[in-house]
Amino acid sequence: MNAYKTIAVRAANRAGDFIAKAFTDRDRIISQSKGLNDFVSNIDEQAEYLIIDTIKKSYPDHAIFAEESGHQGNSDTVWVIDPIDGTTNFLRGIPHFSISIAVRQKGKTVAAVVYDPMQDEMFSAANGSGAQLNNKRLRVSDGKKLENALLATGFPFREGQDLAKYMEYFQALYPHCIDMRRAGSAALDLAYVAAGRYDGFWEFGLSDWDTAAGALIVKEAGGMVSDIKGNQYTGDSASILAANPGVFKHFLQTIKNI
Ligand code: IPD
Ligand code: CA
Ligand code: CA
Repeated sequence: MNAYKTIAVRAANRAGDFIAKAFTDRDRIISQSKGLNDFVSNIDEQAEYLIIDTIKKSYPDHAIFAEESGHQGNSDTVWVIDPIDGTTNFLRGIPHFSISIAVRQKGKTVAAVVYDPMQDEMFSAANGSGAQLNNKRLRVSDGKKLENALLATGFPFREGQDLAKYMEYFQALYPHCIDMRRAGSAALDLAYVAAGRYDGFWEFGLSDWDTAAGALIVKEAGGMVSDIKGNQYTGDSASILAANPGVFKHFLQTIKNI
């Protein structure tokens, strides 16, 4: 296995055990608000610490970019971390959230894991080596049209986000597809596209730590990733679209006049 992926899997397992225990022992959870509708808990912070500690044991010189503690160190190799993607679900006792860890070398993502500790599902990928769920190879679905597609999305719930703009896209897409899911963990949404459970995913306003790992897993499973208009996706893009190749094409045709 790719050495970076091995350490990312180890870090995700360690944090995942900790988060799963806290999920059942709910008195230990202390949450606070980071902004309107945006929450963080002591478990997010402690899980992030465990992930970084695991990485530093093997790679003390690598840099870190993590949601709760920000940037650490200076190196061509950067670990991009979201310790709990889906904190609102976690805080409400809804067992759908994940740990997202990506490794970037000179700006290129080379290894990735998205781990669902409640289902014990480890989605992973290494650049050029395909994507796996636990030890099974992943492939995106093969439907070509939106008419047969189950899409996932995330709503613009944060202050300052443009709900009206979002609704224009929703209205253009929704009549064409089977249905639209809003499950609450963008990293898992991407992993589910890679697994063929969803045919596509789109959202506005995500951060690098939400998507860095999932985007590589989708690509390595044979899917396409871009911004909502089909332009190259980077961690700084204002939107993301990820889908199997057929649905990706039909999605872009459907929203091209917005
Ligand atoms: C959030 C989840 C959610 C998405 C939000 C993200 P967090 O991450 O991925 O699905 O809609 O935009 O911020 O805050 O739980 O790490
Ligand atoms: Ca997140
Ligand atoms: Ca988070």
